[in-house]
Amino acid sequence: MRRPVLAGNWKMHGTRAENARLVDALIEASDEARCDVVICPPLVYLWEIGRQLKDSPIGLGAQDVCAEAQGAFTGEVSAAMLKDVGCGYAIVGHSERRQLYREDDALVARKFVAVQGVALVPILCVGETLDERERGVTEEIVARQLDAVLAVAGIAAFARAVVAYEPVWAIGTGKNATPEQAQAVHAFIRARISARDAMIGDGLRLLYGGSVKAANAAELFDQPDVDGGLVGGASLKADEFVRICAAAA
Ligand code: 13P
Repeated sequence: MRRPVLAGNWKMHGTRAENARLVDALIEASDEARCDVVICPPLVYLWEIGRQLKDSPIGLGAQDVCAEAQGAFTGEVSAAMLKDVGCGYAIVGHSERRQLYREDDALVARKFVAVQGVALVPILCVGETLDERERGVTEEIVARQLDAVLAVAGIAAFARAVVAYEPVWAIGTGKNATPEQAQAVHAFIRARISARDAMIGDGLRLLYGGSVKAANAAELFDQPDVDGGLVGGASLKADEFVRICAAAA
């Protein structure tokens, strides 16, 4: 049995006051026994929220990280710094980073390695655009994104990672993948990892992301290879996110 992971990616939303209320409500409702819940607030709030989460079972993650360890990289934040302020996880390769900030597979792979280098857990995002899905190259794209990381990090690294399948066309659009579409890609990802190491493939936690809400969470999480979710917009509403977590547990 793979323990579900529910990660909330807040993206660039929130204020200190709003965050404090949201985190309070999540702590209130947290149910340690049934799944791993992680929240990923904007960088500038990590420290404060980390303190608020202390003594709670909720984990803290960053939405991105620098691939470099330290030095003259203005504006960047290293994996060690994330760890220093209390993070346990970092998202790498989110489609918004890939598309809006031109991050390529090679950079994402280096970020993945940097995160694991300080013993944080990377949440590696993969997924195709609408155009790629319509051209029938979804598996090819996802394979390329996975293989780039496998080539640099090696298969053993996937025993300490989480992978999120986020079809770009489903992100923030209100249009989620159907449970069957999600399952098909998740099964493909697991098979690709399992082909290199069956045990690691079997244990790998695969999250679905893209317009997950309380109303569709249960049917998505019911799929055999969907082990939780990476939730954007709906993670900003405490009630909604708590219901999504309950659907995974
Ligand atoms: P939405 O849940 O808002 O579609 O965002 C998904 C996402 O990108 C999470 O990382």
